[in-house]
Amino acid sequence: MKNIVILISGRGSNMQAIVEAAVPGARVAAVIANRPDAAGLAWAAERGIATAALDHKAYASRGAFDAALAGAIDAHAPDLVVLAGFMRILGEGFTRRYEGRMMNIHPSLLPAFPGLHTHERALEMGCKLAGCTVHFVTAELDHGPIVAQGAVSVLDDDTPDSLAARVLTLEHQLYPEAVRRFVAGEIAVVGGKVAGGPGVVASLLSPAPSSKA
Ligand code: GAR
Repeated sequence: MKNIVILISGRGSNMQAIVEAAVPGARVAAVIANRPDAAGLAWAAERGIATAALDHKAYASRGAFDAALAGAIDAHAPDLVVLAGFMRILGEGFTRRYEGRMMNIHPSLLPAFPGLHTHERALEMGCKLAGCTVHFVTAELDHGPIVAQGAVSVLDDDTPDSLAARVLTLEHQLYPEAVRRFVAGEIAVVGGKVAGGPGVVASLLSPAPSSKA
């Protein structure tokens, strides 16, 4: 049985999707947040999952927070660390510690639009496709070998909120599938890229462009 530790900062809807997917051969051993008020913590605790909150503001430095976080994670002997809306930049030592066994989901088709406000930026640029990316975490923000990507059509009347909602639905399909593939041993990083199966495990052109015609 492989242990998964999920890190969140807020509502944790991706965390919920992964828990509810009940990936064969794996269990969610713990959910850890950097904000004590993260709504996802209560959801996980209600389901009997171990939870912890490490308030990053209580630590004197990024290094001190990273060390405490690593201690909390390692107490659950993780095979995979899953960042699910974890909005905290992690130091190089931390990312190296979990190299090849820590994934993140980002709401854009990376390498486009790393960072914040991805949907606003995609709309401003007139993108016709938007989406989300699951990738292994490296020291560079929203960067690293791409595990899976999913795409949605951008509609003429989209707002950042409507686009975010459509992409989030796709995130909830894509992330559990990426975790399932990792747990099943179907993912290998070769030459800085993920090999072993198609990089796109889910793609949803929804609604189809013709539906607006
Ligand atoms: C998700 O849309 C996720 O892709 C994004 O935060 C949201 C968290 O929602 N992550 C990032 O922007 C990371 N750079 P959730 O808490 O409901 O899963």
